Amino acid sequence: MAYIDWSEKFSVNVREIDAHHKKLVEKINLLHESLLDNRGPEAQKIIVAGMVEYAEFHFTAEEKLMLRHNYPDYQKHKAEHGRFTDVTLDLQKRINQSGFVLSLEILNFLKNWLQEHILVTDKKYSQHFNLNGVY
Ligand SMILES: [Fe+2]
Repeated sequence: MAYIDWSEKFSVNVREIDAHHKKLVEKINLLHESLLDNRGPEAQKIIVAGMVEYAEFHFTAEEKLMLRHNYPDYQKHKAEHGRFTDVTLDLQKRINQSGFVLSLEILNFLKNWLQEHILVTDKKYSQHFNLNGVY
């Protein structure tokens, strides 16, 4: 069993966004594996960078879609993305300095944040997007 198992309960009923979320789940699962395998800071740096980069790409795409379809909760939603970005950029900074490695505590934060964000915040836009013909 993976650290985070994707299941239909996470679907926001927009194909492109579901694909992004699956990829983000994969990235966090990779981080978890690197922790379990005791991979050193060099390997972790690369995986963290990959996760940060992908999250950035995904948030930007989601925010563009919200703007394009005049999603009313855009500002609040964007602020939530911003908090995740702040935490992960800080994590990346620390990991790029020697000696710092991931912990289960950090991984749990990323996992909980993503699950909560998809299940609560992202799910709120499903109806809005679907009503605008976005699936
Ligand atoms: Fe989001």
